[in-house]
Amino acid sequence: MDNALLGIGLPAVLIGFATLAFMVHRELGPFAGLNVAGRWLLTGLFGMGFVAFGIKMAVALAIERLPEQTITPLLAMQVVAARGDEQFDTGFINPAPARQAHYVWEALPEAAPEPADNPGSAAKVALGKRLFNEKKLSGDGTLSCASCHDLSGHAGADARPTALGIDRQSGPRNTPTVWNAAFMSRLFWDGRATSLEEQAMGPILNPIEMGLSTSAEAERRLRQDASYRQDFARAFGDRQPITFARIAQAIAAYERMLITPDAPYDRFVRGDATALNPAQLRGMALFESTGCVLCHRGPSFSDAGLIGGESAFRIFPANATPYEKEYDLLLDGKRGVWRIASLRNVALTGPWLHNGSVDKLENVVRIMASAQLGRSGKLNTWLNDDRQLGKADRSPIGDKEVADLVAFLEALSSERLVAGAGKGRG
Ligand code: HEC
Ligand code: HEC
Repeated sequence: MDNALLGIGLPAVLIGFATLAFMVHRELGPFAGLNVAGRWLLTGLFGMGFVAFGIKMAVALAIERLPEQTITPLLAMQVVAARGDEQFDTGFINPAPARQAHYVWEALPEAAPEPADNPGSAAKVALGKRLFNEKKLSGDGTLSCASCHDLSGHAGADARPTALGIDRQSGPRNTPTVWNAAFMSRLFWDGRATSLEEQAMGPILNPIEMGLSTSAEAERRLRQDASYRQDFARAFGDRQPITFARIAQAIAAYERMLITPDAPYDRFVRGDATALNPAQLRGMALFESTGCVLCHRGPSFSDAGLIGGESAFRIFPANATPYEKEYDLLLDGKRGVWRIASLRNVALTGPWLHNGSVDKLENVVRIMASAQLGRSGKLNTWLNDDRQLGKADRSPIGDKEVADLVAFLEALSSERLVAGAGKGRG
């Protein structure tokens, strides 16, 4: 209800009631022989609607005058999650993204979306697999994509803080997994690539990754090999020459097969109530109630997901905490803008974060809660003005909550990949 309506509505009610009172006291009352009390009673009876409407207006006016922060969280923000036999009353979280009262958990689809201009086929995927493991695509023939993205031994990553490229050069960033990259709308930690096709061209020519001199050199090396000429013909049609763009297309088609809809979490969401243990169920509820889902949402556990993703990037670390020094999280002293990382298989892909500086998942969870959700014990966060109403708890999350959240993150690991993890190259 806005002020203009109140400005007209309230006087209208008052005038209406005054007119009624005047009529009853001057005409109806004397006519019926009523005394003063009787006349007011009759006015009240006739005017019931006016009285009720007037009270409603007054209440609306009073509510509207309350400070905004007092009322909006009450209406929109209370998130209560119940899982198993425990109930979590979570208080209020970041108001802005409260798009729905209850978060909807989604399983990973059994197939990744593919672009119209690069449909997959068995021949293309087989070629992509061959290229993914092809060391000829590196300058000195020592590295393939699989050298850093160890699919079974390290869940598609390399278990190093930052990547080790050609000539044993150390890169600046941690190697993310390629598993389920096909579900992301943005690739790389800073989200600079928008498709797997675009992404695949990067590392081959990157001087500190595979370090090949030119794209023409990649084409030349593969064209020399009769079996590659045959494989490209099968994948792209007989007359197609081998081009750098097609190398990338084949690799991307293969990567779209590298998906893991077989995590315990997915089985749970698809209806197997026994798929998660009690700690994981508590962690799942906490993941929602603590506010992780504000960013890590949808089947990819990232708002940078192709399915349902809306805003891919966030400032990280968003709030000042001692962690930023401890783990060197700033870029040249500034807060960076990063893609929201997917959390699929995250328990298998440590060390974590863009610089690979954190080697315990517990600590990543603590960093996230404090840097991204203001759980740092300071009061000057989202709910600054309504302490008395909001009962918001901004203290750091406790060890038990951290353990439960980690248990839940472990439920996002593919069972196949867990079986292979740590066994080295496979
Ligand atoms: C030297 C190690 C290394 C090699 C070799 C390598 N990568 Fe990567 N890969 C990385 C690193 C490091 C990143 C993150 C870079 C960044 O964010 O700036 C990355 C990112 C990616 C991503 C994005 C994943 C995501 O979630 O954002 C994909 C996909 C990928 N690489 C595929 C490939 C393919 C395909 C090849 C071979 C053509 C390849 N990589 C070769 C280290 C490597
Ligand atoms: C405001 C957005 C936001 C919220 C809320 C948030 N995160 Fe994150 N999260 C990010 C971003 C951005 C990154 C990538 C950081 C980087 O690039 O180093 C990330 C990274 C992570 C990673 C590391 C991924 C990897 O592969 O290294 C984990 C684990 C994680 N978040 C878990 C959580 C948990 C658990 C919560 C809730 C307690 C949470 N996050 C809340 C934005 C958020």
